[in-house]
Amino acid sequence: MADAWGKVLLFGEHSVVYGRPAVAVGVSPGTQAVARVSDDETVCIAPWGLTLGRKMEHKIADSVRVLCANLPFDTDRLSVDVTTHLPAGAGMGSSASLLVAVARAFADVRDVRLDDATLFDAVMAAEGVFHGTPSGLDHAAAMYGGALRFVRGRPPQMTPLAVGASIWLVVFQVAAGGDTGRLVGGVRERLGRHPSLEAPLLDAFGAVADAGVEALGAGDHARLGELMDINHGLLVALGVSTPALCAGCAEARAAGALGAKLTGAGGGGCLIALAPGPSEAEAMVAKVARSDYAARVVHVPQTDVRHA
Ligand code: PMV
Repeated sequence: MADAWGKVLLFGEHSVVYGRPAVAVGVSPGTQAVARVSDDETVCIAPWGLTLGRKMEHKIADSVRVLCANLPFDTDRLSVDVTTHLPAGAGMGSSASLLVAVARAFADVRDVRLDDATLFDAVMAAEGVFHGTPSGLDHAAAMYGGALRFVRGRPPQMTPLAVGASIWLVVFQVAAGGDTGRLVGGVRERLGRHPSLEAPLLDAFGAVADAGVEALGAGDHARLGELMDINHGLLVALGVSTPALCAGCAEARAAGALGAKLTGAGGGGCLIALAPGPSEAEAMVAKVARSDYAARVVHVPQTDVRHA
């Protein structure tokens, strides 16, 4: 069985598209995939109730076709069964996680060793079907998990981060996710209307992300939470938050979160709230979650040296 992580973004969504650093945290379980040889060539995603022919006109089928076109081995006559623990298109990196898991499953069934650079580039091409011009952050997180500082580029800079003291994040899904491509386009238009603000705003995101790296490494949760609040404010400035996301962040703070922010592209989807500890995280879920707020606790363990 092939695996890929989900992710939440602690810092730097949107500004990462403009070359500023971002920080992602892997979410496990994310996605598992098992491939088999079959003439049907299907992609079955049971948790989402989807069975697609790989030749169908459907965004997921389209992206798998682009993925296959960029993999350096024969992917004809392969079907794949996918199990995902991530909500579709809600800011937790579901598409990137799916594509990484599918590529790894196809490589497994063909007995091919897929190197990281080839996998990264193939998923980058396939993610373009969903995002237009993805930064690569989502699938870097899907490949490596852990806590990761990412700067886009060719090649991108990916730095595994030390976590000075375990953190517990509560992920609340407050609405269906927005359209990432459209949200990224909206940010570009807004920045284009205020050219003198573009660099200072984006630099502020970058400074917050790097202060966040320090706070994460030092295990300084109070500082980390406040930086999440600041990052949320910057995302509001870019126009990607919604009243439901802002209200959800305020509710989480009132329920004891040290900080809260939307995570991912925004326009709906998920927010993350930093809990002081595991029992507080559960208490926050009980207090804030309701029928329309799906919740999940993500534990990021303390570590000095991160994943390979
Ligand atoms: O909501 P998601 O998981 O699609 O996150 C997208 C992150 C952005 O920075 C908004 C876009 C990107 O390509 O990095």
